[in-house]
Amino acid sequence: MKRTCLAVILAAGESTRMKSSMSKVLHPVGGRPMIAHVVDTLARAEIGTAALVVGRDAAAVTAAAAAGPLRISAFTQTERLGTGHAVLAAREAIAKGHDDILVVFGDTPLITEGPLLAARQALTDGNDVVVIGFHTADPTGYGRLIIKEGRLVAIREQRDATDEEKKITYCNGGLMAINGAKALALLDQIGNTNAKGEYYLTDLVEIVVAAGGKAIAVEAPETELTGCNTRAELAYIERIWQQRRRHELMIAGVSMIAPETVFLSYDTQIGQDVLIEPNVVFGPGVTVESGAVIHAFSHLEGAYVSTGATVGPYARLRPGANLGEGAKVGNFCEVKQAEIGAGAKVNHLTYIGDAFIGEKTNIGAGTITCNYDGVNKHITRIGANAFIGSNSSLVAPVSVGDDALVASGSVITQDVPAEAVAFGRARQEIKPGRATTLRARYQAEKAAKKAKVDGQ
Ligand code: UD1
Ligand code: CA
Repeated sequence: MKRTCLAVILAAGESTRMKSSMSKVLHPVGGRPMIAHVVDTLARAEIGTAALVVGRDAAAVTAAAAAGPLRISAFTQTERLGTGHAVLAAREAIAKGHDDILVVFGDTPLITEGPLLAARQALTDGNDVVVIGFHTADPTGYGRLIIKEGRLVAIREQRDATDEEKKITYCNGGLMAINGAKALALLDQIGNTNAKGEYYLTDLVEIVVAAGGKAIAVEAPETELTGCNTRAELAYIERIWQQRRRHELMIAGVSMIAPETVFLSYDTQIGQDVLIEPNVVFGPGVTVESGAVIHAFSHLEGAYVSTGATVGPYARLRPGANLGEGAKVGNFCEVKQAEIGAGAKVNHLTYIGDAFIGEKTNIGAGTITCNYDGVNKHITRIGANAFIGSNSSLVAPVSVGDDALVASGSVITQDVPAEAVAFGRARQEIKPGRATTLRARYQAEKAAKKAKVDGQ
C-alpha cells in the first residue's frame, strides 16, 4: 500500500537580508517564483498535499504555491519563533493523520526529488526522524549533525555548539521527514531553551532518541540544499538552475555553442536538433520545434517557432509571435502577436505586430505594421506569396491580398486586392540637366557671400 505524505513548506521568513519589497520565496528562479520550484519537486516525490506556513506576503506566496500541482492549505505563523514553531502552525493539517510528514523550506529551490524520496524511504524502513544532511567545506552557520556509534543523536545549532562540535562538517540541510503517527507528540516536546530562544525543529532528533525512537541522516549534494537569503545567493541559485536545465536540453538533443550564455525559463520547450547560438534569452512561454535555428543575440518570450524556422541574429520575438515551418525572422526584427506563415521571410529591420502574414510572403527591410493609433491596436492581414517593398508602412487596420505587391516606401492606408500593385508614395520626377545648373547657382551664392565678408 502506498504511504500518504503531507509536506509542510516553511515560508514565513521575513526575508530581511534580501532587502526587498517582497518575500524571498516570490523571487524568480528560471522565470517563476522559487516556491513554485519547491512545489514541483514535491509533486515529483509523489506528494499530493502540502501545508504552507506563511507570514509576510501571505496571499501572494499562497497563490504562487497553489499554482502548482499540489493541494495546498495555508497557515499563518503570526510570530516568528523558530522552525519548530513554524511547523506547528500547520498543526491542524498534521493532525489529520498522514504516514509521512516532510518538512521543506520555501527558500531552497534547488532540492530535487532524489533526497526527498530517500528520506521517505528511510521512514518506511522504520526510522522516526530523517534529516537531510550534506558535507561542506565551510559549515559556519549550519546545524551540525552529531553522530555517535554510527547513529544520529542530535543536531547542534551553530550558536549552541561547543568548539569541538563546530569542527563537524556534516551539516543539517534543514529538510526533515517525520513519522506521521508520532509527529505531533514529538513536535509538542520542542522547547526554546537555547541561545536564540527559538523553538528549533532540529531538537526533534534528541527528543525522538530519548523516547527510544530512531533518527537517521540521509546525504544530499550541498548545492541542492542551498538556501536563498541574499541577492548573491539568489544569483548563485539561478546559475545552478540554468546549468541544470541547459544540460537536460543538451542531453535531449539540443545544440548550444556557448551554453553558459543561453538563458532558459522554467517552461522553455526546445526540440531535437535545434541549434542555439550564443547569447540567447528565452523568457517564459517559448516553444521551439525540431530543426529550428536561433541565431546569436535573440530574445524570445511567449513565442512559438516551428520546425526549420530561423530566428535572428538580433531578433526579438514577443508574446504571440508564431512562426510557421521554415519561416525566417532576421536581424533587428521585432514580432509581436503575429503569425508568420510557412516559408515567409521577415529578414531585416522590421516591426510586425498584430498581424497575419501568409505563406511564402516576403516582407522587405524596414517594413512597419502601424498597429497602434495611440488609443487602439489594429490588425494587418497579408496574404500568401505577397511582396512588401522595403521601408513600407502598413497602417492598420489594413489588408494586402495574396500575390499582391506593395512598392517600396509606400504608406498603405487602403486595402490592397489580391494580385494588385499598390504605390503609396509621391511619384518620382526627372529634370534633365538640372543638377548642373543648381550646383552652379549654389557656388555663385557661396562666392558672393565670401566676397562680402572679405570686403568688410
Ligand atoms: C536551519 C536549521 C539548521 C540548518 C539550516 C539549513 C533549525 C533550528 N536550524 O537554520 O540546522 O543547518 O536551516 O539551512 O531548523 N522559518 C519560518 N518561521 C520561523 C523560522 C523559520 O517560517 O519562525 C522558515 C524560514 O523562512 C526559512 C526556514 O524556515 O525558510 C529556515 O529558517 P532559518 O531561520 O533560515 O533557519 P536557519 O537558522 O538557517
Ligand atoms: Ca536559513
